[in-house]
Amino acid sequence: MEQKKFRRIGILTSGGDAPGMNAAVKSVTCSAIARGVEVVGIIGGYAGLINENLKPLTVADVSGIIALGGTAIYSARCDEFRYEEGMQKAIQTCKKHNIDGIIAIGGDGTFRGATDLSIRGIPCIGIPGTIDNDVTASDYTIGFDTAMNTVLRLGDQLRDTFESHSRCVVIEVMGRDAGYIAIETGIALGAVGVALIEKPFDKEALFNKIIKLRAEGQQSFIVVVAEGMGGTFSETLTKEIEERTGVESRFVRPAHIVRGGSPTLRDRSLACTMGDKAVDLLLQGKSDLVICSRNNQITYADIKWALIVDRMFKNKLKPGDLDNFSEKEIEDMKALCAERRAYFDDMYDIMLTIG
Ligand code: F6P
Repeated sequence: MEQKKFRRIGILTSGGDAPGMNAAVKSVTCSAIARGVEVVGIIGGYAGLINENLKPLTVADVSGIIALGGTAIYSARCDEFRYEEGMQKAIQTCKKHNIDGIIAIGGDGTFRGATDLSIRGIPCIGIPGTIDNDVTASDYTIGFDTAMNTVLRLGDQLRDTFESHSRCVVIEVMGRDAGYIAIETGIALGAVGVALIEKPFDKEALFNKIIKLRAEGQQSFIVVVAEGMGGTFSETLTKEIEERTGVESRFVRPAHIVRGGSPTLRDRSLACTMGDKAVDLLLQGKSDLVICSRNNQITYADIKWALIVDRMFKNKLKPGDLDNFSEKEIEDMKALCAERRAYFDDMYDIMLTIG
């Protein structure tokens, strides 16, 4: 069969923005243009595809965005795209504007859109871009490193004032249902405790640890809570620490601050290599794939496989989810989930030991 000739591809960013998305947009744009393919920015994620909000991108357009946080082609979460009518509008836009394929940067919602388009004849490749690092198929997502470094900087600043006042600070960090940012920054900040949904949280042990360390002379304490603990967990924990240990405590939620800022070298490098790989695969005629970083190699996985392994890891599998996968594919999913669980076990033990 003759290979499809690509004349123009689209690029979009969808879901929560992440530092490094712009570097990926630049990488995709420059990489495609270098291969003789035009690039069009789809403005505001899938909504831009539905509403024909498009902007042709040149190398000059993206020349300066590599260092910028956020996303220059805007982002959104688009409900209309979940329904057939919205998807059909998106497909019409692709046909009308000769968009032969799409590279979609985002998290699992973005990949669901990409796989829906792929099966309707628009080749799509996904790139993981989210601060949450919750794309199980990839060791790292674009934006995670910058977000962790931002939390680290804020946590160090908080330590200055909390040390001066001999207080405890409870910092709640974003991450949706995933505790990657919390556990990594908890260790790096020397937190006395970290609460995240991937591990049982022993409040009594935390109170006793703070009481013991205070008796030994430790003045300030940092506790990191993952957003996934939900509701008013962090505020309640702050009050309980004060009541149970006698250490004056405050609660801080940096929230969206953690999503902004210039991307770190690691995020820029990940974005550039993933962007180039995505263009390469798309122009080879591949579709319905997500680019992954595994063991320091840039590789790829089937999007449907990636979405289901996520559900498996989060214990959210629905009946029938595994029906269309081979035994080997399911074994690989289980092995990856075991690897991720071992990571959380190891990191949690380290936190308990050194915090
Ligand atoms: O997925 C990125 C993220 O920042 C999560 O960490 C957080 O739960 C969510 O997005 C916040 O979404 P919004 O910006 O819509 O409030």
